[in-house]
Amino acid sequence: MELAKVDAIIDRYNNDPTALLAIMQDVQDEMRYLPREAVTRISQKLSVPVARIYSMATFYTSFHLEPRGKYTCTVCMGTACHVRGAKRLVEQLERDLAIPSGKTTADLLFSIEEVNCVGACALGPLVIINGEYNGNMTSDLVSKKVKQIKSQEGGA
Ligand code: FES
Repeated sequence: MELAKVDAIIDRYNNDPTALLAIMQDVQDEMRYLPREAVTRISQKLSVPVARIYSMATFYTSFHLEPRGKYTCTVCMGTACHVRGAKRLVEQLERDLAIPSGKTTADLLFSIEEVNCVGACALGPLVIINGEYNGNMTSDLVSKKVKQIKSQEGGA
């Protein structure tokens, strides 16, 4: 892990402990999660207890403490999407990627996650891949998307 990147982020905020949340967010943006080494470094440089950083990271659900894939497939499980078959999309992703929902592939290419309504119910069922909204999804379409990404990344 490149701690130099963490140091650069902390420096940008002049080692200011009141900027802890922003620093955690920037580190996550850079690394897609909050590695343990990064948390330790932030703790040392800001003189903030490690426990406080972890408690914030668990309080704000947007933080991830485990490695995340380059592509996050986020399936909306809100009511509107659920009744239109969102669960089938999750199951299709789990089959295609051979991981359970909530996990990341060993090659760190994909993660699957489920969220509550994201406010685009008319598009449901909905799979968001790295911020791109894919509405009216079917199992076939979600499979195609995964294949497309794999081939563009040089995989199978
Ligand atoms: S239920 Fe999926 S966007 Fe609202």
